[in-house]
Amino acid sequence: MKLTRRGFVGTIGLGTAAGILSGTVLPVRSAKAAPAEVEIFDGGIMQLNQNESARGPGPKTMQAIHSHVTKRLGRGYAPDHVRELTSTIAGFYDLENDNVIVGTGSTPILEGAVRAFCADGRHLVSAVPTYSTCAQTARRMGVEMKGIDLDSELNIDLDAMADAAKGAGLVYFCNPNNPTGTVHSPAAVESFVRSIMRESPDTTILIDEAYIDYVADSAMKTALPLAMEFENVFISRSFSKAHGMAGLRVGYALGQAQTVGAVRTAWNMGDINMLAAIAAIVALQDKEHLIWERQENTEVRAFTTAAFRDLGFDVVESHTNHIFVNLRRPASEFRAACLEHKILVGRDFPPMENTHCRISMGSREEMITAVEVFRRVLG
Ligand SMILES: Cc1ncc(COP(=O)(O)O)c(C=O)c1O
Repeated sequence: MKLTRRGFVGTIGLGTAAGILSGTVLPVRSAKAAPAEVEIFDGGIMQLNQNESARGPGPKTMQAIHSHVTKRLGRGYAPDHVRELTSTIAGFYDLENDNVIVGTGSTPILEGAVRAFCADGRHLVSAVPTYSTCAQTARRMGVEMKGIDLDSELNIDLDAMADAAKGAGLVYFCNPNNPTGTVHSPAAVESFVRSIMRESPDTTILIDEAYIDYVADSAMKTALPLAMEFENVFISRSFSKAHGMAGLRVGYALGQAQTVGAVRTAWNMGDINMLAAIAAIVALQDKEHLIWERQENTEVRAFTTAAFRDLGFDVVESHTNHIFVNLRRPASEFRAACLEHKILVGRDFPPMENTHCRISMGSREEMITAVEVFRRVLG
């Protein structure tokens, strides 16, 4: 079933819809960006489970993709487009080309990091729960992982991570963190990095900034200056989140040449296709769209967070496009109940799977519908 804005009004009734859509609950989208007809459901199921983007790429990126769907796509083995993407990213951050590696998403970069720096059996340090690619890679390789529990406010415990880092091959630090959405300030990140570089200088630190474009300006800053200062620090980024390009698969890492080069040597970064590279080049430089996307997400997240809090559930303050809600019941129960209403919400995040569930933010139309369902299911 496809449910459009018009269909939504029909489904929940004119009175409720008028109240919601008039902005009393969630402000109406600015006219400039309002599509004529917004599709709420994606293939019959609302996907609030993978932190993708319901809004997709910005108009300039869409235009660039459309205008490159030509017979020229018959050529593309010689990777000019990858070189151009690499040099555009380098120029954007004022770096040299060899400070940049690109991949089919940031997933191969995370996997490559574990393979590059833990290959000789040195352990991985990771928060628990956090994004799990590094931990999964370590498991596949038979590498030991020291998993560090979050603190009582669901922040990554940086002191405990630094302690566990002694002698480690790799420390994986997701800032902002998935699934919690929490961030660490520039001062906290800097003192964490300097303390590991002092106590365990052979350990590499990967700071995953996949969600950085959703963060309010003052809450955190990129760790790129630390990556350029220390050989053993690098950062990863993704086009799958605020740039709305999860389906195009582009990510990148920035750091000193030998460090990012070691990651690329350790694991295949995949072949970025021409359309994805062209889209990423445009998306990276489209500041106006990123600002709009962040504002949309901020409003939708505030609306959804407030709805759960009104229902009496704790939600840790998120700086991403997902929230982590203490439902005081197994995520699997909530998941099953939401699925009956054709809504997918996040997977289990051990050891918190019996209390917390991660919910990705959809479009405002999707979240208006979803919140109604959440109220019914949790009511
Ligand atoms: C923190 C984090 N890093 C990396 C990724 C991988 O994203 P991609 O491979 O699409 O760049 C994700 C995906 O959800 C994520 O949440």
